[in-house]
Amino acid sequence: MSEKSQSTNPPAEIVPIYILGKRYDVPASLTIQKAMEYAGYQLIRGCGCRGGICGACGTIYRFPNDSRLHFGLACQTVVEPNMYLTQIPFFPGNKAVYDIEAIEPTGVEIVRQYPEVVKCMGCNACTESCPMDIKVMEYMSAAINGDVKRTAELSFDCVMCGLCSSRCPAEEVQYNIAILARRLNAKYLTPKAKHLEDRVKQIDEGRYEVMLRDVMKADPAELRRLYIETRQMEPAMADEMWEPEDKRFL
Ligand code: SF4
Ligand code: SF4
Ligand code: FES
Repeated sequence: MSEKSQSTNPPAEIVPIYILGKRYDVPASLTIQKAMEYAGYQLIRGCGCRGGICGACGTIYRFPNDSRLHFGLACQTVVEPNMYLTQIPFFPGNKAVYDIEAIEPTGVEIVRQYPEVVKCMGCNACTESCPMDIKVMEYMSAAINGDVKRTAELSFDCVMCGLCSSRCPAEEVQYNIAILARRLNAKYLTPKAKHLEDRVKQIDEGRYEVMLRDVMKADPAELRRLYIETRQMEPAMADEMWEPEDKRFL
């Protein structure tokens, strides 16, 4: 960096945050996850995709003189001054074991697998705590009413972080009930995708075997060359009909 650019860069704004009660001064532009690393924490658990998908980084925080609890994903939420925060990387949840081939897509089945579903008292604490802005209470209500499809659709963006469950006075495990509904919906209530069936058949017939064997045989230098020189990525704004130049494996 040149002397000139050093002198013109404004200093980073620093804000205090509290992790497990201890104060750290961190750059205001960081996410909670990066701020924890900046403060010296090594994230071995409670950190996965870093992209708001895996749900491993559920976080609860509060501000001084504010009775409200706040909820977020540490990899997606930017720090704010005087945040008192703690991680909920895992929350124990009741998990039914079922054979999806042997059960039916009905509300009766949901109640059979998760009898506690009917204990929901409609307090809405789950919806208030969901970092994905999912209407959790509504999908629970749909599950109680036996509407498997609506439960599946309303819960589609769930990342299984468990924050809703941590707040539930009825001890529900909303996300496991929802994933049962999504599995039932996908298996029994949604039309089968023809292109997916065709692709699975092609895989079964060994269409990709040669290509995969070639890749597995390649040494790291060759893999690097293939990745840099031959990989063709779909453009971000590709139209629906986009296809790669090499169509041998389509
Ligand atoms: S927090 Fe529990 S009891 Fe309250 S609405 Fe949600 S599922 Fe029902
Ligand atoms: S529904 Fe529950 S488990 Fe799913 S993202 Fe929202 S808070 Fe997390
Ligand atoms: S690390 Fe995966 S959602 Fe935050």
